[in-house]
Amino acid sequence: MALILAIESSCDETAIAVIKDGALLSNIVSSQVDVHAKYGGVMPEIASRLHVENIGFVLKEAIERANIKLEDVDAFAVTRGPGLIGALHVGLQAAKTLAMLYKKPLIPVHHLVGHIYANEYIQKFHFPLLAVVVSGGNTELILMKDHMSFDIIGETRDDAIGECYDKVARVLGLPYPGGIPIDRLAKEGKHTYDLPTPLKGEHTYDLSFSGLKTNVINLVHKLEQRGEKVNVPDMCKSFQDVAVGTIIDRVKRAAQEYQINEVILGGGVSANSYLRSEMTREMEKLGIGIHIPPMWCCTDNAAMIAKVAERLYDMRLFAPLDLGVDPNWKIQDYNKFTN
Ligand code: KG4
Repeated sequence: MALILAIESSCDETAIAVIKDGALLSNIVSSQVDVHAKYGGVMPEIASRLHVENIGFVLKEAIERANIKLEDVDAFAVTRGPGLIGALHVGLQAAKTLAMLYKKPLIPVHHLVGHIYANEYIQKFHFPLLAVVVSGGNTELILMKDHMSFDIIGETRDDAIGECYDKVARVLGLPYPGGIPIDRLAKEGKHTYDLPTPLKGEHTYDLSFSGLKTNVINLVHKLEQRGEKVNVPDMCKSFQDVAVGTIIDRVKRAAQEYQINEVILGGGVSANSYLRSEMTREMEKLGIGIHIPPMWCCTDNAAMIAKVAERLYDMRLFAPLDLGVDPNWKIQDYNKFTN
C-alpha cells in the first residue's frame, strides 16, 4: 500500500483526494454546478476554465486536510477519461506536473471504474456482479467476473439517463441538475401521463432515453398549446417510473441470465431515491445482494479515483509522462493508454 493523491476533473467537479493504506485522509470537491445551472447544463469551455482557476486551491486544501507533504506522496493518480476533453486535460496536466516534479509514478484511472469502486468504501465485492453505472454522461450495465474485469452487456444507444433527467427538468422549468428536483417532486405525484416504454419488446440489455425525453417534451408542448396546465409532480412521477423501470427490467433479467451474486450502483443517478428503493426491493425478491454507494460518493469525487489507484499501484500500472486524455476511453481498455 502507499500514499496516493488522486485528481478528478472530468466534468464539472474539481476534486482531489488523498488515500493511505486504504484510509481516506482528505476528499475535497469543488463543484461548479451553480455556474452551469444558469445555462441548464454543463458548458464545456466554462468547465475547463473553472478547473484551471480552482485546482490550485483544491490541491492546497487536500494536502492540508490530509496533513501530508507532497514529497511524501508515492504516486499521483488522475482521471484520464471518459469525460469532457478540456476538463480532463486540466487534471491530467496537474497530475503530470506533480509526477514530474516529485519523480513519482503517474496512474491514469478510468472514470467509470472509479464510480464502481466507490462501493468498496462500504463493502467487499462478491463476484460475479453486475455494475449499473448511471450518470450524466453514461448508462452502462457491466458484468464483472473478478476485480478489474469489465464486460459491457448493455448500454444506452443514445442519451445517458442523467442527461435525460436534466433535459426533462428543463422543459418542466426545474433547476439544473434536473435529477434532484424530479426525484423530489415525483414523490408527490401520480403516474397519470402515458409515456411509451423505450425498446419495448426487444430482448436486449441496451437502453434508450432519447425517445422518452422527446415524448415528454412533445407532451408538455401539446398540453401547453391546448392551454392545459402540466401537472409537474405527475409528469415527474410518470417519467421516472419509465426511466427507472427500464433499468430495473434489464437488471432483473441480467441477474438471472448471468447468475450474479450482487448488483452495485454507481454514478450521479444512483443518488435517485426511487432507483435505490426499487432496485433494493427487486433484488431482495431474487435473493441478490445490492451495494449502493453512500450519497457523498455518488456524484463525481476523487475518493473513488483514489480507491482504484490503490489497485493500479499494486498492479504497477503506471503511464509515461507524455500521456494524453481520452474522452472516449472504453472501460475494458482501462489498462491501455496509447496516445
Ligand atoms: O456522475 P455525475 O455527478 O456526473 C456526470 O456524469 O455528469 O452525475 C450527474 C447526473 C446529473 O445528470 C444529475 O441530474 C443526476 O446525476 N442526478 C440525479 C439525482 N442526483 C443527481 N438523477 C436522478 N435522481 C437524483 N436524485
